[in-house]
Amino acid sequence: MPVVENSKLTVVGAGSVGASLAYAALIRGSASEVALYDIAAEKVQAEVLDLAHGTQFTDARVSGGDDLAVVEGSHVVVITAGAKQHPGQSRLELADTNVRILEQLLPNLQERAPDAVFLLVTNPVDVLTVVAQRITGLPANRVIGSGTVLDTSRLRWLLARRAGVATSSVHADIVGEHGDTEFPLWSNARIGPVPILDWHGGESFSLAELDEIAHEVRNAAYTVIRGKGATNSAIGLAGARIVEAVLDDEQAVLPVSTVLSGQHGIDGIALSVPCLVGGDGAFPLEGVPFSADEEGLLRASADALRASLGSIGR
Ligand code: 2OP
Repeated sequence: MPVVENSKLTVVGAGSVGASLAYAALIRGSASEVALYDIAAEKVQAEVLDLAHGTQFTDARVSGGDDLAVVEGSHVVVITAGAKQHPGQSRLELADTNVRILEQLLPNLQERAPDAVFLLVTNPVDVLTVVAQRITGLPANRVIGSGTVLDTSRLRWLLARRAGVATSSVHADIVGEHGDTEFPLWSNARIGPVPILDWHGGESFSLAELDEIAHEVRNAAYTVIRGKGATNSAIGLAGARIVEAVLDDEQAVLPVSTVLSGQHGIDGIALSVPCLVGGDGAFPLEGVPFSADEEGLLRASADALRASLGSIGR
C-alpha cells in the first residue's frame, strides 16, 4: 500500500480513460482511496457504483460523484476530462477545446486540493501540461503530464516480443511529444545490460527494424482508435503507475512530461524526458546521454509543441 497514509487519488473525468485509470488504480492498490469526479452526474454515479461493487476484491475505498467536494483531501488529482480523438485525428487537433475545459476546471480543483500533485492525461497532454502549470502557478514538478510513459510501454512490449525476453528486461524510452514527433532514445536502449544493436539472443535488430518499431509505436494509438474508437486500458495502467510513484515517493525514473526550464536548450515547453518521480512530483533527470541526432529530434518535438501553443494563442 502507498507510503502516504490514507492516500487519496481523485480521477477527474468519468469517460473511458478516467474509469479505466480508476479501475487500474484500484486493482494495483495505487491509493487507499480512489475517487471519481465528473460533471455528468448519472454517468459518474454509475461508474462509482460499478467500481464500488468490486471492493470486496480490492483494498481501496471508492468514492465520487458530481460535487466538487469529492476532490477535497486528494494527494494526487489526475485529469482525464475533455474531448477525445476521433479516428484519423491527431492529438494536437484537440488543443483548443481541451484548453478551454481546463481553464474552467483547474482553478476549482486547485481550490479543493491545494497540496495535490496534478497529473494531466487529457490530450494533447504536453500542451495541456504547459497551460495547467501557467493556470495554477505551481512549480513545474507539481504539474506533470503522463507524457510518453504509455508509448514507452508500447515500445518495450514490441522489443520484448521480438527479442524473446520479459518486457521488464527491456530498458528503452520514448521521449519528446506524446504524439507524432515522439522518438525512441536508441542510443540508451538495452536488453538487460546489452545495447540494443548488440543483441543477438533470439532475433537481432537492424536499423531498419528499429525504425519500423518506432513507427509502430508512433501509430499505435491511431491503430487502436480505428479499431475500437478509443484507447483506455493501457493508458489507465500507465496513469496508475505514475500515481504510485508519487504516492509511494518512489523516485522512479519515468518519462513523464514536465515544463522544461533550459534542459536540452528548451524553455517553457512541456515534453517527456526521463524524470525522477516521487512525492513532490517529477524532476527531469540530469546527465541522460542523448546523441546529437536525438538532441535535434527533441528540439524539433519542442518546436512542434511551441507551434501548437502558438496556434491557440498561448
Ligand atoms: C494514446 O496514446 C490516445 O494518447 C492516447 O493511447
